[in-house]
Amino acid sequence: MKTVVITGSARGLGFNMATFFRRDYGFNVVISDLKEENLIKAKEQLEEIDSEGKVEYTICNVTKLEDLQNLMKFAINKFGKVDIWINNAGVNQPQEAIWDLTEQQINTLIDVDLKGTIYGSKVAMQEMSKNKSGAIYNIEGYGSNDAHMLGLNLYGTSKRAVTYFTEGLAQEAQERETGVIVGKLSPGIMITEFTTHSLGNDKIELAEKTKKVYNILGDTPETVGKFLVDKMVSNTKNNVKINWLTNRKAAFRFMTAGFNKRNFFGEDQELLTNGKGNKDAK
Ligand SMILES: NC(=O)c1ccc[n+]([C@@H]2O[C@H](COP(=O)([O-])OP(=O)(O)OC[C@H]3O[C@@H](n4cnc5c(N)ncnc54)[C@H](O)[C@@H]3O)[C@@H](O)[C@H]2O)c1
Repeated sequence: MKTVVITGSARGLGFNMATFFRRDYGFNVVISDLKEENLIKAKEQLEEIDSEGKVEYTICNVTKLEDLQNLMKFAINKFGKVDIWINNAGVNQPQEAIWDLTEQQINTLIDVDLKGTIYGSKVAMQEMSKNKSGAIYNIEGYGSNDAHMLGLNLYGTSKRAVTYFTEGLAQEAQERETGVIVGKLSPGIMITEFTTHSLGNDKIELAEKTKKVYNILGDTPETVGKFLVDKMVSNTKNNVKINWLTNRKAAFRFMTAGFNKRNFFGEDQELLTNGKGNKDAK
């Protein structure tokens, strides 16, 4: 039986990927996040799904290398081996000018989004290369393709760096004959707590124009999670990019926007998806 470890998986994309690994492929699933109460809830919901695999959780703050090392030890201890490791934990930035962000805000974003991915990749590669097998996936985001937008400069900087880092890791993995494959997951726009909150806490007031674009291009983390999991499970190649929102799909969405009645946002920006938590996950 195969095992997947996902960081930041008590909700959003991470939780939804755990759901599909478990439901559709019978994987053992190790979820991890910052708060135990959220992990307990997520575990309960995952256990409601019929599957041959088991679910375990442990707290892991990806800004701490030691937490990631403990997450790997925990998974090995429970299941013997890790087949897929996903560095998914991430935070959005406040929509302010880069020069108005505080030292702490800058550090938190870079520590979670960039350093967390580097630490997680280091830990996963060290363990997986011993067995000469396994796959590591890192999550791209706005900025990965060099795009720029007001209020997303720091986040984009970190995701651009994640892309560069992941491509370099894939190259090293191959040249050093680790037997491990490395890939990028590009989830497009998902309507989750990430969309409406910066640094995990403070609310982002989305402009009506932005909501309109999100309603056209955005998707739920269930839709995207299912797509990414199916592709990861069948992938055997190194240095792949698994891309949900292709240019073609985006163009089609804009062309058909007039017929699109989707609305992800309720009153006071309440999310009308399960992205904010894990309730209703199937
Ligand atoms: N939502 C989008 O539109 C979007 C688009 C592209 C990429 N992404 C990326 O997808 C990933 C998942 O995002 P999401 O939309 O599911 O967000 P989310 O906010 O719903 O989930 C992120 C999870 O990460 C956890 N987390 C935050 N800081 C952490 C830390 N220090 N250690 C461990 N866990 C931590 C949170 O508690 C949360 O459970 C992120 O890497 C994000 O950058 C999101």
